[in-house]
Amino acid sequence: MSKVLGIDVGGSGIKGAPVDLEIGDFAEPRLRILTPEKSSPKNVVAVLREIVDNFTPTIGDGPVGISFPAPARHGVIPFIANLDQGWAGLHAEDYISDALGRPVTVLNDADAAGVGEVHYGAAKGVPGVVILTTLGTGIGSAVINNGILLPNTELGHLEIDGHDAERRAASSVKDRKNMSYKDWATKRLQRYYEVVEMLFSPDLFVVGGGVSKDHNKFFKYLNLETPMVPAKLLNRAGIIGAAWQARWRLDHPDVPEEQIVEAAKKAEDAD
Ligand code: BGC
Repeated sequence: MSKVLGIDVGGSGIKGAPVDLEIGDFAEPRLRILTPEKSSPKNVVAVLREIVDNFTPTIGDGPVGISFPAPARHGVIPFIANLDQGWAGLHAEDYISDALGRPVTVLNDADAAGVGEVHYGAAKGVPGVVILTTLGTGIGSAVINNGILLPNTELGHLEIDGHDAERRAASSVKDRKNMSYKDWATKRLQRYYEVVEMLFSPDLFVVGGGVSKDHNKFFKYLNLETPMVPAKLLNRAGIIGAAWQARWRLDHPDVPEEQIVEAAKKAEDAD
């Protein structure tokens, strides 16, 4: 059996569970620990260690997949909107891996959910362009073409009508402002999705994040060309996708940065 530990780092909780990759579901009940109030690298790693120690190592050296609420470019966090700024610029993969003594794969949380949905959920076998958005504290995005992820898209930070989109349309805004589902959908989400639709002409929108379980309450107010479905794995998607990616990394080690630069130079010289 192929079991890998997946951990989802969120603004309010850090959750982990070993994932059975044959079925795409938790192999044991998950453990959830509150995100430390100061969500610095040091404090978050202490929680990660607690989660890792709680489960028996799985395959190989016990790889760990971590879904993280920021882009992760070859393991480095270029910027972060909703956790401590100490993460910005950090090689999160090396930092966490050194601290835990385990091979670690860090990927963006919406990308992790996208990977989960492609392999086990609502985007499985869907041809063409699928855009998954997670609606929560912020807005995350995963863009998938014929089952292949284009990593680190940050469509929650599109500037729409002069505003950072997630600051107007995330579900946290709905909660903070006590908006009804109807008002939120018609006044905030409609505009957001129509801009994304215009820019990408996707074949399918998959909507994740905690609020997607209430999709019956707001999908009906959205008027879009693109079909929209709720994510199937709900709040398990990040953990499952992160575990899947960590397993994949075992067989496909990351290309070192020098090799990318070298290849670009060669292409330039050949011109
Ligand atoms: C971050 C994204 C993340 C999303 C959801 C945004 O603020 O920039 O990387 O996917 O929040 O957590």
